[in-house]
Amino acid sequence: MSAAKILVVEDEVITSTAIKEQLNQLGYTVVDKVASGSAAIKSVAKSSPDLVLMDITLKKGDIDGVTAAARIREEFKIPVVYLTAHSDEATLDRAKVTEAFGYIIKPFADRDLRIAIEMALNKHRAEQLVEEATAQKLAEHERTEAQIKASLQEKEVLLKEVHHRVKNNFQIISSLLSLQSNSIQDERCREVFKISQNRIESMALVHEKLYLSENLAQIDFADYIKGLVADLMSSYQVDSDTIDIRVIAERAFLSLGTAIACGLIINELVLNAFKYGFPEGRSGEVYINFCSEDDGKFSLAISDNGIGFPQDLDFKHTESLGLQLVNALTAQLGGTIELNRDKGTEYKITFTEMPREGVVPY
Ligand SMILES: Nc1ncnc2c1ncn2[C@@H]1O[C@H](COP(=O)(O)OP(=O)(O)O)[C@@H](O)[C@H]1O
Ligand SMILES: [Mg+2]
Repeated sequence: MSAAKILVVEDEVITSTAIKEQLNQLGYTVVDKVASGSAAIKSVAKSSPDLVLMDITLKKGDIDGVTAAARIREEFKIPVVYLTAHSDEATLDRAKVTEAFGYIIKPFADRDLRIAIEMALNKHRAEQLVEEATAQKLAEHERTEAQIKASLQEKEVLLKEVHHRVKNNFQIISSLLSLQSNSIQDERCREVFKISQNRIESMALVHEKLYLSENLAQIDFADYIKGLVADLMSSYQVDSDTIDIRVIAERAFLSLGTAIACGLIINELVLNAFKYGFPEGRSGEVYINFCSEDDGKFSLAISDNGIGFPQDLDFKHTESLGLQLVNALTAQLGGTIELNRDKGTEYKITFTEMPREGVVPY
């Protein structure tokens, strides 16, 4: 290792000359020799020494040794060893808090000077190593964090894109069915096409709500129900003066899979109410009530005050697909379904979130 370069700050010429001589003999290079604090700061900027030997009580200039040392530490990160002629306790106390790398009391022997310098240089090197390692770790950490953030953002964009496309594809399927049904004369057959379209659209709406929402994994189900009901009313041209639909839905978030299953159930039961509850222009009300209950359970009630569900029909074992779907989807949710036919028709479904988050039932 090349000889350490040292700046000597000492206002007594004889002392500074002696120190310079002593340092040279010890094999150090004295880069400069100045007499005041401000000259020391200037010299450090110019000669960039490895260490500064600083007289604490400089009489010349506006700043003393302690102040100059603090500035040198802060601006240039160079170790400073204090030189002091006598034990000026107050100055020494100040010196201690300026991150001193040691001090040496004049006059000093070669051995003491060398030990003080070497200890300061070693301490400084050790500190630098720690600083470098810390900075490296920090930079690495920041890089990883930025990478994770970027990849998360990328995935969110991708997920939005996927929901968008799934929704578009569902809509294309629905349009294809609509186009195909235009060529069908048979009323019943056209109806079958239309019901299929509604089922597809109820699923498309889940994906639409998902890519429009902040949270890509969960859907505001109250908001979804309102959208679904509006779509069903316009699709079946329900006159709101004749059939009044009332939605009471608590703001709650459901995962994709649960929302799809519930959406299909609502689709079936509300359409049934429209289709069978009010024959021959009867008027009445359809209620949808969605709320969360204790233990993470949700309750979904769909009712109408129409003519009532046929007494002789077992709603759990129908020949028709609609209620079969409702029963199967309720089972898939791990829920229960009850039918109350005292006044009109009321279905009450109770379920919890699907155990496997985000699993889509198709
Ligand atoms: N809200 C309701 N009011 C009166 N009858 C209903 C109601 N919901 C269902 N039904 C009766 O239950 C039957 C089975 O319904 P569903 O399984 O959905 O079959 P689909 O709608 O294909 O006829 C219907 O045909 C109808 O007679
Ligand atoms: Mg039906």
